[in-house]
Amino acid sequence: MRQAIELNENWIFVKHAENVTEAATVQGEEISLPHTWNAVDGQDGGNDYYRGTCWYRRMLESPQLNAGQKVYLEFDGAAMTADVYLNGEKLARHEGGYSRFRVNVTEKLRTGTNELAVSVDNADNDHVYPQKADFTFYGGLYRMVRLVIVPEVHFSMDYYGGDGIRVTPEVTLADGNREHAQAKITVEIWADGGAERVTVTAADQTKQAAVADGYAKAEFELSDVHLWDGVEDPYLYTAKAELASGDVVETRFGCRCFHVDPQKGFFLNGRAYPLRGVSRHQDRAGVGNALTSAMHQEDMEIIKEIGANTLRLAHYQHAQEFYDLCDENGLIVWAEIPYITLHMPNGRENTLSQMQELVVQNYNHPSIVCWGLSNEITASGGVTEDLLENHRLLNDLCHRLDASRFTTMADVFMLEMDSPVLEIPDVNSYNLYFGWYLGELEQNDAFFDEYHAKYPDRCIGFSEYGADANPQYQSAEPDKGDYTESYQAVFHEHILQMIEKRPWLWATHVWNLFDFAADGRDEGGKNGQNQKGLVTMDRKLKKDAFYLYKAYWNRKEPFVHLCGRRYTDRTEAETEVKMYSNQPEVTLFVDGKKRETMQGSHVFRFKVPISGTHRIEAQTGVCRDFITVRKAEEKNMDYVFGQADGVVNWFDKDDFKPGYFSIQDTMGALQSHPQAGALIGKLTESASAARGDVAQSVKDNPNLQKMMMGMTLEGMLKQVRDMVTPEQVKALNDALQQIKKPEQTK
Ligand code: GCU
Repeated sequence: MRQAIELNENWIFVKHAENVTEAATVQGEEISLPHTWNAVDGQDGGNDYYRGTCWYRRMLESPQLNAGQKVYLEFDGAAMTADVYLNGEKLARHEGGYSRFRVNVTEKLRTGTNELAVSVDNADNDHVYPQKADFTFYGGLYRMVRLVIVPEVHFSMDYYGGDGIRVTPEVTLADGNREHAQAKITVEIWADGGAERVTVTAADQTKQAAVADGYAKAEFELSDVHLWDGVEDPYLYTAKAELASGDVVETRFGCRCFHVDPQKGFFLNGRAYPLRGVSRHQDRAGVGNALTSAMHQEDMEIIKEIGANTLRLAHYQHAQEFYDLCDENGLIVWAEIPYITLHMPNGRENTLSQMQELVVQNYNHPSIVCWGLSNEITASGGVTEDLLENHRLLNDLCHRLDASRFTTMADVFMLEMDSPVLEIPDVNSYNLYFGWYLGELEQNDAFFDEYHAKYPDRCIGFSEYGADANPQYQSAEPDKGDYTESYQAVFHEHILQMIEKRPWLWATHVWNLFDFAADGRDEGGKNGQNQKGLVTMDRKLKKDAFYLYKAYWNRKEPFVHLCGRRYTDRTEAETEVKMYSNQPEVTLFVDGKKRETMQGSHVFRFKVPISGTHRIEAQTGVCRDFITVRKAEEKNMDYVFGQADGVVNWFDKDDFKPGYFSIQDTMGALQSHPQAGALIGKLTESASAARGDVAQSVKDNPNLQKMMMGMTLEGMLKQVRDMVTPEQVKALNDALQQIKKPEQTK
């Protein structure tokens, strides 16, 4: 039998040491794993978190070994580059902060006590991904470490951190019917040390197989297979392999079949199964990425509450135990490597090794259906032949290692739809932020409709979309860029309706389920955080938009949620009371009196006059929720980000004469009219003079030009608000308001 000895206690952390000798003598700090040295400075903003080489050391008792036994050190994650020393001698280096790796120490262990030292580095470099991205690159031994002792004849421990057992289920649905499915299960094993025979058990059937050159295969037929059927029924089987030496490996697996159709989207076990879910980073307030099992489990409970059926585990390989939780709870997973934002000519080898480790170590998870090659990788340097070749090699590697899954990639919004890189992965997906970073919400709809019309035979997904929201900020007139919880809810209401009308989107993933650390950010009143989460980074507060998705996706737990609980002081005489519910009927009570019952779906809006302090209550069935609102004379400026300079309200709604041009028209509409076009022509010339680089990239990129035409002039002006004064905007709008729009031809 193999034996594992956990090595998570009694470590000494040494922040500064020039070499292993110095690291062995410096005082250091006693710590236990998991650990990161950026738990605090990686989350407090300023982009000044410590990036460099730190050391971990501990004493290591040599275990009593029987003849021929082998001993490995096993690391579940060391970010980002680790050098492993034993008794002062460097034994191994591993480049990649998110995957498991092992070091054979059999011949190096001394009898009695040994000195184990690990240098871990998260500094800038030009070849280990990630190097440029919107999240904190925490450094440390942030997952577990253990000693693994195996018999002389053992399942392979030396192949990209794999377990030496691989299970490939091939499901056949009898006439497309999920009820009567068969499956062929192929169990492959790799063994070292001269194994001759292996006993393999799968789904309670047992077979013997001869081992030739360290490899064996056993095949099983399941006539009436219990399918792994997503969140409805994530049934798991177990496969086990045993050698005469006593070494045993086990793995769970799930029987399912899936495919993506360009017109109909994702299918699971023969039926349409639109993937609708969220993304997750592996970090949390106060602990960085040094997550405990309880934290992983809590995240999964929140995911089950919202009712997602898919997860994009961005932007790197996540912990084994989290993929296990996805298997157990039926989440369909997009797994990926951190080949992100900036393509590095010296980084090709690292993308290939990180992808090989991701696939080899996670092959048996039924939850994983695809391998993500990259994320927004053209954002910093466009599409080069080296980047294309890097993608071809990754794509081929995935197919060679795993014929059972498809490849994908997440594209940045300005990547031209006809770019050759889009032809490499099996399916594509775009990250769009219209209605947040730029443009209007409707441009998300237009983008996908255009892509789908242009490429009807290509599968397309929506890999990222979101809007930052600080729950402190509230508004009765939410607007793009105001960082209010109110706008985030409006943003997602639009996107959800957009998605509902496009079942051919094979997968959609909210960016992000949780706020996460991006130490380079300082926005929305929280330094160091990306606040696009539907839940705060400490997992303590679910924003209104969380309940919107719960209303659409959670079909198990009836509920009603009143929005705006943090919007207490309201200046409007008649206020909107909005509820989210997964029930068809809700009732509103004001100050204890029943006011109105409404039928509908997901979103329920009421208008309520307010004049004092009111108790607002929602009810559906036995579910209730209530908030308090107060009529206020003055706007509560605590609700406003940046004392209103974050939001530009040049005009009130009734400042615009209908039938005449205004800054609320799109650039395309304005430019198509000679007079209006001439007026804004001057503006765009001065803007491009000031922002030559941006203007040039727009000129060079027809996709961006097209997007700009879909933006309103007001939206454009907000993007360059530091370049125009309110007076200039007013004057421009006055001039446009003199120009009558041509009669709309019927
Ligand atoms: C990008 C990127 C994310 C980032 C997000 C954002 O699409 O893929 O890593 O966090 O945009 O700007 O919020």
